[in-house]
Amino acid sequence: CEVVALVPAAGQGVRLGAGLPKALVPVAGEPLLTHAVRRLLDAGVREVIVAAPPDGVEPIAEAARAAAVDAPVRVVPGGADRTESVRLALDAVHGRFDVVLVHDAARAFTPVETIRAVISAVAAGAPVAIPVLPVADTVKVVDADGMVIATSDRSSLRLVQTPQGFTLDVLRQAHAQAAGVATDDSALVERLGIGVHTVEGHPHAMKVTTPFDLAIAEAVFG
Ligand code: CTP
Ligand code: MG
Repeated sequence: CEVVALVPAAGQGVRLGAGLPKALVPVAGEPLLTHAVRRLLDAGVREVIVAAPPDGVEPIAEAARAAAVDAPVRVVPGGADRTESVRLALDAVHGRFDVVLVHDAARAFTPVETIRAVISAVAAGAPVAIPVLPVADTVKVVDADGMVIATSDRSSLRLVQTPQGFTLDVLRQAHAQAAGVATDDSALVERLGIGVHTVEGHPHAMKVTTPFDLAIAEAVFG
């Protein structure tokens, strides 16, 4: 099964506030991007295409290639938002692949087993597969004034992680018809009316968003 992975890493990491692009922020002495790419390669990914901040392609390329000697990694300039960065990386895919993964550099510690589970689901016929976790907190819907409108039924809610897996055709179709920004590529596929499969996610696939998340990552993986 031939797999290509797109890694959106073009964000600035404003909420983390580290003073450098989030993908370059070190945990355990290595950039988040290096951890992310290494796990993708360990899971059997054939080629990795990283979307970098347009004004900072070179340091991103260096961090990606640090994951493996002669790593099959290409870096393209990313876009103004995540959806555009994914689309630009997708445009750089050439040749035939059975599965395309989209994986946030910020979810650098997703276990190899989780990556493999996503690949397997698509290889087994799912047009789209995403890793999810149950929700531990109660979730409320509130209005603009902060007044509660409703309490969601937690048992049917899931938190969504990456990598998300697709057939190349489905991801291309989703992005070709994408109107506006989505925080998640599978949402673009939902709009096409295509069924999105779920596989079991993992707490280690946490997204490093805030300084608190970075402290947790360093404590667990450092
Ligand atoms: N991303 C991207 N291109 C953008 C914005 C985000 O490739 N224009 C990527 C980020 O690099 C990250 C992933 O999308 O790997 C998830 O985004 P997020 O966690 O929001 O990262 P940032 O946008 O960098 O963080 P912030 O929103 O705090 O600035
Ligand atoms: Mg962002």
